Amino acid sequence: MNTESITILAIESSCDDTAASVLHNGKILANIVCTQQVHINYGGVVPELASRAHQQQIVPVVHEALKKAQVTFQDITAIAYTQGPGLLGSLLVGSSFAKGLALALNKPLVSVHHMQGHILSHFIHSENPTPAFPFICLTVSGGHTQIVLLKDYFDMVILGETFDDAAGEAFDKSAKLLGLPYPGGPLIDKFAKNGNPLKFLFPTPKAEGYNFSFSGLKTSILNFVQKEVQKNPNFITENITDICASIQHKIVTILLDKLEKAAQHYGVQHIGLAGGVAANSALRKGIENVAQKNHWTAHIPPFEFCTDNAAMIAIAGYLKYKLGKIGQQSDSAQARMDFDIFTHS
Ligand code: KG4
Ligand code: ZN
Repeated sequence: MNTESITILAIESSCDDTAASVLHNGKILANIVCTQQVHINYGGVVPELASRAHQQQIVPVVHEALKKAQVTFQDITAIAYTQGPGLLGSLLVGSSFAKGLALALNKPLVSVHHMQGHILSHFIHSENPTPAFPFICLTVSGGHTQIVLLKDYFDMVILGETFDDAAGEAFDKSAKLLGLPYPGGPLIDKFAKNGNPLKFLFPTPKAEGYNFSFSGLKTSILNFVQKEVQKNPNFITENITDICASIQHKIVTILLDKLEKAAQHYGVQHIGLAGGVAANSALRKGIENVAQKNHWTAHIPPFEFCTDNAAMIAIAGYLKYKLGKIGQQSDSAQARMDFDIFTHS
């Protein structure tokens, strides 16, 4: 295997973003993401529509990535793709495409776990230093909320996760209660910028250890909003910035408290954020504050690598390929999937 010059073409299609990326020796040459607009009127992702949209978009998205990176199929060393977890129909489009391409070009395949991709986005080469091990990553997306301890790239232990809603869902469902369109997370962030985070106080849900639970929070927000709207039908519009700031403050405080406790317990000095909710401005600022307070280093990947993208699949595929972990045509797309754990030796 030539480990001097490695070019990875990566494909991500686990949910509602059709994405392709080209990476050369750890550096991203192209990162193309086509976010499906078809779900906007449904208040959530419609799996069947997602698969069809992936089918329509995957060829142009891959071509665009190659064009942007100024490489041809022949320049590609290996093809990485998201094997799971995610929507099965969506995963099947990306995995079938990647497998077909690998067969046609006679190139190796690398299967990647979507959440490991989110975490490993920290190791994309950029001007920012990459985290040292041990490293703890808080992965927060529309589907997952996990605190993961890394002793090495693929030596990962899940210290805690959500029992019910993910952090992104907590944002999106709260936004829906306020009549905001899907996905509401970025809108809560936007309104919160002009609001008072301590104006409305919501209870902290109980979850043991480093685990999370957000469904109770959603219910208390719903009860609170309904009660206030009965008294004043314009309550939401008149208080939208304070409501958003208070909801955001609660979710962010819950997340960062557990992250801080986990890092203190495991004596870890490098902490990071991954997943779509890592785009949240209060969470980004909050993790910097936690790091500063404890004399740790906070790592936050650039915005384009936080929401779903194929660059994170490319870096995970690159690191796996360098460790000789080549995938098979028989690897099947998996809606639920365990981390692929292994060490250097
Ligand atoms: O990682 P991602 O792009 O897709 C999944 O794998 O789920 O995460 C999408 C989630 C959505 O719930 C969206 O509302 C949330 O990330 N999100 C945000 C922000 N930007 C995206 N939540 C809060 N504040 C933001 N700025
Ligand atoms: Zn994701």
